[in-house]
Amino acid sequence: MDVGGIRFENVSKWYPGSDRPAVNNVSLSVEEGQLVVLLGSSGCGKTTLLKMVNRLYEQSEGAIYVNGKDTRDVPVNELRRQIGYVIQQSGLFPHMTVEQNIAVVPEMLGWPKERIERRIDELLELVHLDPGLYRKRYPRQMSGGQQQRVGLARALAADPPFMLMDEPFGAIDAITRTKLQDELVSIQKKLHKTIMFVTHDVDEALRLADKIIIMKDGEVVQYDTPLAIIAQPKNDFVRNLIGGEDVIRQISLIAVEAAMKPPEGKDAPAGSRKIRRDDNLKAALSLMLRSGAEKLAVVDEEERHVGELSLAHIQELLRAERNMSGVGVNA
Ligand SMILES: Nc1ncnc2c1ncn2[C@@H]1O[C@H](COP(=O)(O)OP(=O)(O)O)[C@@H](O)[C@H]1O
Ligand SMILES: [Mg+2]
Repeated sequence: MDVGGIRFENVSKWYPGSDRPAVNNVSLSVEEGQLVVLLGSSGCGKTTLLKMVNRLYEQSEGAIYVNGKDTRDVPVNELRRQIGYVIQQSGLFPHMTVEQNIAVVPEMLGWPKERIERRIDELLELVHLDPGLYRKRYPRQMSGGQQQRVGLARALAADPPFMLMDEPFGAIDAITRTKLQDELVSIQKKLHKTIMFVTHDVDEALRLADKIIIMKDGEVVQYDTPLAIIAQPKNDFVRNLIGGEDVIRQISLIAVEAAMKPPEGKDAPAGSRKIRRDDNLKAALSLMLRSGAEKLAVVDEEERHVGELSLAHIQELLRAERNMSGVGVNA
C-alpha cells in the first residue's frame, strides 16, 4: 500500500491534560515524489502532524505508514535515516563548522572519508554556497538564509527519500525567502523527494506545493492542488485564507504549462511572441496586452517550441477548474 509515500490513517494526537486533540482523525496520502505543503494558522496542529511521521511524537490513535511500513514497526533510527528533517532555526550545531555539520549523518553511517568530502562539496554546490568559502565557517559566521541552506544540505546528506520541513524559511527576510523557495523548487525537480513542508504563509504554499493540505483546529479542511484550492475553495474558511476572488493574483501563481495547448507546427510562426512554460499566466496575460498578440508561442528552457497559449486557453482553464466537481479531501 502506498509504497514510496506517506499515509495517515485516522491519526489523532491528544497532549496530556488537553481537552481537545491537537490532531483530529487525519487520513490522507502523500504520494511518492510530491511536495505537499501543510498550511494553516499557528496552533492548528501542523508541527504535531509532522513530528509524528519521524516519531518525535507518538500518535494517540491511528497509524502512519512510511514507504508502506507502519512507522511503529520500524526501528526509530532506521526510520529517521530515511527522513531528512529541516526546522526553522536550522538546528545546526553551533560549535561545528559547516563541513562538520553536513558530515554528521554520513559519519554515523560509516562512509569513507573521501566519499564524505565529495558529498559535502556536492551538497554545498546544490544549495548555492561556494565550498571554498563556507566549508570552514561556523553557523554564527553566516546569515540566517545561509544557515538554512546548510540545514537543507545537512538534511540531504545521506540522500533520504523523505523530507520533513517545518517552516524552514519562516525567520528569513522576504527577498531571501523567495530566492530559497525558487531554489527548493529547482532542487526538487532534480531530486524528486517526497516532501512534507509546513508553513502558515499562503503565497509560499501556492508557490511550492504539488498539493496543499489546509488544516484548522487539528483537522484537514481541504487537500488539493494549488489550482483546485484557488478555483474551488471548499468553504469560506479556505476562501478567506487564500485571499478571496483576486483573479489576477491567482493566475500569477499558475504556470503557463497548465493552460497551454500543443503546438500546431514544429516551429513557432515567424515573429511570434514567446513565453517560457515555467513562467506564470499573469506574465503571459500582460505580454498579450502589451504586445497585442492574441496567441503566444510557449517555449521550454532550450527555446524549443512546446505549446501555444491564447487568452481563450486561460479562460478555459479557469472555467474548467471552477466547474470541476467532487474535489475535496482525498484520503
Ligand atoms: N508538547 C506539547 N504539549 C502540549 N501541547 C502542545 C505541545 N505541542 C503543541 N501543543 C498544542 O497542540 C496544538 C497544536 O500545536 P502545533 O502542532 O505546534 O501547531 P502549529 O505547528 O500548527 O502551530 C496547540 O494547541 C499547541 O498549544
Ligand atoms: Mg508549528
